[in-house]
Amino acid sequence: MTKKELIEIAKEARKMAYVPYSNFSVGAALLTKSGKVYTGCNIENSSYPLTMCAERTAIFKAVSEGERDFEMIAEVGGPMTEPDATSRYISPCGACRQTLAEYNDGSMTIICAKSADDYVEMTLAEMLPMMFTPESL
Ligand code: THU
Repeated sequence: MTKKELIEIAKEARKMAYVPYSNFSVGAALLTKSGKVYTGCNIENSSYPLTMCAERTAIFKAVSEGERDFEMIAEVGGPMTEPDATSRYISPCGACRQTLAEYNDGSMTIICAKSADDYVEMTLAEMLPMMFTPESL
C-alpha cells in the first residue's frame, strides 16, 4: 500500500461524510501493520457535540475488529464545495491524536493531504509531543 493509494482511499471515504451542519467533510484511511485498511468519515449530529471525527471513526472500526497496530493514517478534508483536491491540509484534532496515542508509541505516520500528489507527513510523536499514554499511568 503506497501513500498515494491510502490517500485515494481516504478521498473515497470522505464521500460518505454526514455533515449537514458544517458542510465540511473529512475522510480518513487507517493502515494497520497487518496490511488492512479501515476507513472513516465525519458523522455529525443535531446535538452538535455528539459529532464524530473521520479519524476516530476509522480508529474505532479497527479496534473493534481487534486491530491496534497502526502503520499510517491518511486524511483529506475541506468544505463540500471542494469535492476533489482541497485547499488545505487537514490534521487530526487533539482528541483524535490522543486516541491514536492510546495504541501507538508515536512512530506511526500521519499523512495530511490536499490530493494524492500534494501532502505533508509527520509522525504521531511529532504531532503530539510529550504524549500521555497508558504507560504514563
Ligand atoms: N473533523 C474531523 O472529522 N476531523 C478533524 O481532524 C477535524 C474536524 C470534522 C468534525 C466536524 O464534522 C467538521 O470536521 C468540522 O469541525
